Parts: sequence; C-alpha cells; structure tokens
Amino acid sequence: MLTGDTIQAFAGEPGGAPQPFRPPHPEPLDRVTPWHALTKAVRNPIEAWPRALFEGTSWRPPFPGAPVFLTDPTAVRAVMVDHAEDFPHGHLWRRVMHPAWGDGLVAVDGADWRRQRRAAAPAFRAAEMAALAPRMRTAAEAALTRWRSADQPIDIAAETGRIAFDVILDTVLSGGEDFARADTETRVHAFLNQLELRRLSYLFLPDRAHRGKLNRPAPEGAALRADVDRMIAHRRRTMPRGDLVDLLLGAIDPDTGRPMEDPLLRDNLLGFIMAGHETSAVTLGWALWLAAAHAPSAARMRAETEAVTGGAPIGPEHVERLVFTRQLIQETLRLYPPGYQLTRVCTRDAVIDSRRIRAGTRILIPVYALHRHRQYWRAPDAFDPDRFAPGMPTPDRHLYLPFGAGPRICLGAAFAMTELVVVLATLVRAARFTPLSVPRPVASTSIRPQHGLPMRVDFD
Ligand code: HEM
Repeated sequence: MLTGDTIQAFAGEPGGAPQPFRPPHPEPLDRVTPWHALTKAVRNPIEAWPRALFEGTSWRPPFPGAPVFLTDPTAVRAVMVDHAEDFPHGHLWRRVMHPAWGDGLVAVDGADWRRQRRAAAPAFRAAEMAALAPRMRTAAEAALTRWRSADQPIDIAAETGRIAFDVILDTVLSGGEDFARADTETRVHAFLNQLELRRLSYLFLPDRAHRGKLNRPAPEGAALRADVDRMIAHRRRTMPRGDLVDLLLGAIDPDTGRPMEDPLLRDNLLGFIMAGHETSAVTLGWALWLAAAHAPSAARMRAETEAVTGGAPIGPEHVERLVFTRQLIQETLRLYPPGYQLTRVCTRDAVIDSRRIRAGTRILIPVYALHRHRQYWRAPDAFDPDRFAPGMPTPDRHLYLPFGAGPRICLGAAFAMTELVVVLATLVRAARFTPLSVPRPVASTSIRPQHGLPMRVDFD
C-alpha cells in the first residue's frame, strides 16, 4: 500500500503547528509470501520488502536460491569495503551490464577494472568539478527557455532527463559535436529500456536464455556505437582539450605499456552516458517535486541562492556555499536513491558479522531500506533536509549509500553533486513549480515516479 501525505494534507490547518512532510512511499509489509516476493520483484521490488528489512539486520526472501539482504551497517561495510575482493559484482551483473558497457569499467572485475578505473578517475576529481558549473547551468537555462513558451502542465520527469543528457554531452564529451542530440537521446532511451528487460531476466532466467534474443543489443545500440566511434576518430586527429575523452585516449595500460584500444574506449564513453544520465535525471526530478511540495524548502533555497550569488548567475565559486540546496539533494537521495539496491556475489565461504555466508551466495544491499531503517533514522519516512545540516550528528557511513561504498564507489559522485546543486538552484530561483499529482515511486533501473511528474511552472 502506498502511503505518504497528499499535498493538501501536508499544508495542514491554517495557523496550525508545522507538520512533518512524509512523501509517498510503500509501507513495509508485515509478511511476504513467495508469490508476492516474486511478482513484486518484477513490478516494483520496494513494494515487496518486509518490515524485517527496515528494522532488522538481515533477511532472505522465501524462495530457493534467493539472495541474502544485509541491513546491518557493520555487515555492509564488511562486504563492500573490508572484504570487497571476495564480494565482486559477479557474472550475473556482467550479463546485465555487458550490452551497455561492453568490457568497460562498470561491467568488469579484478585487474581489468582496476586499470580502467585508474585511467578514468582523474577526469572526475572532486576538486575540479566546480569548474564545470557554467556548462551545467547552461543546460538548466536552456530548459527554462523551453518552459517559458511551453504548453502547461510540463512533465518535469521528461525534462530533467533532457537536462541531464545535455550536461553529460556538454561536459564529459566536451560539447558532443559529433552527436545528433535528438537521435542520441532516443537511442540512449532504447538502450536503457533494454537494460531494464535484462534486470528481469537477470533474476529469473538461466544462463542459456541469454544466448538468444535477449542477448541481442538494441538496434539503436549500433547507431550509438557508430556515433562514439566517429567521435573517437575525430578526437584522435584534433588538439587535446583535457577532458575525459583525452584522458582515456592517453591512458597507458601499466601491464602492456599500450593505450586503451578504441572498442574499449568506446564502451567506457557510452557507459558514462548511461551511468550519468538516468541517475542524475531522476534525482533532479524528485528534488524538484519535493521542493515544490514543501514550499518552505523552495523558499529557503531561493533565499540562499540570492544571498550566495548576490543575484549573479551561479558559478564555480558558489557551489560549495549553496549549503541548504546540497542538504535538500542529500535528503532526496536518501528518500529515493537511484541505486536502491546494490548487488554482490560471495566468492569464498565467509563469516560476516557472525553470519556464515557460503561461496556462491548472492548478496543484496537494499540501500532504500538502509536509508529508512527504523533503528537508526529519526522519522525515517519524513522529508527533512536539516538532518544533513552542518553540525548535525551524521549517520554511520554505511547506512547512507546513495553512491555506494568501497572500491566500486560511484566515480561520478562529485560530478553528480555539482550538477544537481547548480541545476536545482538555477531552476528554483527562476521559476515556481506547482506539483499536480502525488507520484508513486516505482523501482526499476532506478526509483522513478510512475506517470512522470506533471507540474505547472510559473515565472515571476
Ligand atoms: C545522482 C547521480 C548518481 C548516483 C545516485 C550514482 C550511483 C552510483 C552507485 C550506487 C554506484 C555503485 C554501484 C555498485 O557498487 O554496485 C555507481 C557506480 C558508478 N557510477 Fe554513479 N551515480 C550517479 C551519477 C554518476 C555520474 C554522473 C557518472 C559519470 C558521468 C557516474 C559514473 C559511475 C561509474 C563509472 C560507476 C562504476 C564505478 C566502478 O565500478 O568502479 N555516476 N554510481
């Protein structure tokens, strides 16, 4: 059952005490039958998660071969950080990721992964992300221009997809002049939809099922690959720009002394578009909806932006100082983490927090449940950006995992936070958003609002 406050209920009685705002979420179940666990795992896994996950330390769904869910921060740390070598993503992960990432860094483990991660990491150094603020702001300003002349209402979920896409093309791919933007967007969506199909087969079908139709890449994939290949050929002939493409072009494999081959370079660049597109887009959508539904937060963000910038456009020097905007994004990532569950496989018998785990066992870290764990969070379902305010007690590092943890932590985390702060502050200062529905969160490749986010957008 979906609960959470409607916008009218949140407004409370005029003159009454402020009410906590509980945005929409499925209520944890008291009992989960095997049928429920299986069917919901297809349609919306977070609706099949029992109270035990939100209150206890571990849970195993009632069907053979089911993964072990860990919700104890010490156990999470053991798997993701301390013994990460013994808990890789495993072959099922690779099966799902291969169509999008090929042999790129997200899809592989061990030495292949280490080499590629070392090559790409300098392009995402936290200290250098603020310099990208003007390009990120431009993507938000382009959206504002579209909305000024658009028919109302506007589906903000679709629009944040477009903003995130523009940001990736204009930053990671330095302008993306080799891409036909509209075509690329369509192709990326087709690719992501295929990934969604694979998520289902990943859970239920044996390996042999993946050699047939399911394993065939989406036709749009070939066109997308051709775009990236053309870009690589072009960039090999032109002056370096110091962006990610150049870093990867110049990366030397320490074992072979050779640069990355073009197909691997392409797999990685395509993968960055995938990894950075939907995650940022859905987070931005939820953040806008939460700010719109909670007027005091929108007002605080607007006031903060004016105070920090003095009315100037948001630039690199402002990013760190937009403290409340950042808090609101952290709270959005707590309530609706795009990576709502992380997966690992145990490769050798282990004892994790006094629990025996046999080699071959699949492990799930249910990030969404950890973020709302009854034992550790005050008012876990309530929207409260001030829980991340400076000076507030911080939760255990392994209870708040929007970007994961350990060696496989999100490479784009600093990039994404910069993007989200700059874009959200630019949008909220310029326009007023009125939500026209209360969305139902549905977990698939990320937690998406079912039926989008229709809103009225008004300009002063
Ligand atoms: C709000 C936005 C984002 C969220 C919530 C997010 C979340 C995550 C999470 C949870 C992981 C770890 C997966 C695991 O441990 O199994 C991850 C990995 C990764 N993310 Fe992100 N991500 C975001 C944006 C981005 C962006 C913008 C980029 C790049 C442009 C990016 C690139 C990557 C890469 C390359 C990895 C794989 C790292 C590795 O395996 O070494 N992400 N992300």
